[in-house]
Amino acid sequence: MQSDIERVLFDAPAIHKRLNEMATQISADYADRELTVIAILTGTLMFMSDLLRRIPLPLKLDCLSVASYHGKTQTSGEVIFKQPGVPDVGGRDVLILDDILDTGHTLAAVRKKLETAKPRSIRVCVLLSKRKQRAREVDADYFGFEIDDDFIVGYGLDFMERYRNLPYIGVLRKELLEQPNQ
Ligand code: IMP
Ligand code: MG
Repeated sequence: MQSDIERVLFDAPAIHKRLNEMATQISADYADRELTVIAILTGTLMFMSDLLRRIPLPLKLDCLSVASYHGKTQTSGEVIFKQPGVPDVGGRDVLILDDILDTGHTLAAVRKKLETAKPRSIRVCVLLSKRKQRAREVDADYFGFEIDDDFIVGYGLDFMERYRNLPYIGVLRKELLEQPNQ
């Protein structure tokens, strides 16, 4: 697995240091409110569990399972919700957690779906935000790191469902992206 990584962008100590800062900010912003966190599976698993354990506030947690990639590195633009219905977030202060903001299709679709339940507020928190022109207008209220438009894996992020268990975030070697059906 290690040899598939072109370079490490953020090692475990760098991630954890940044999570401390993000958690402090979120805890201060929501100090007098009850947060409802909606995490988008599967890529947020590590991020969600490490971030939320640093937020000492009462909160509710729900997860949404969403697919848009179909195993490729280019998004199809079509966002598929793997469960019917909308989480019950009416009147609540919602914080959507996602691993990475790329084209914006996923977060725009999730946000739109949650808005139909009439929450009191919605904010978006991502670990990574790619510096690029997005297909959909969506901004993160909180983000861990801004990165170039490379394909990255690790700490929850996958390529063809692999590499999620790497403890760091790294750029995948380009030639691996080009191999069909591994
Ligand atoms: P978007 O809908 O294009 O913003 O993409 C969001 C989803 O695509 C993320 O939640 C990831 O699952 C996936 N994704 C986008 N860029 C990367 C990447 O560089 N590595 C791994 N997954 C990515
Ligand atoms: Mg993915």
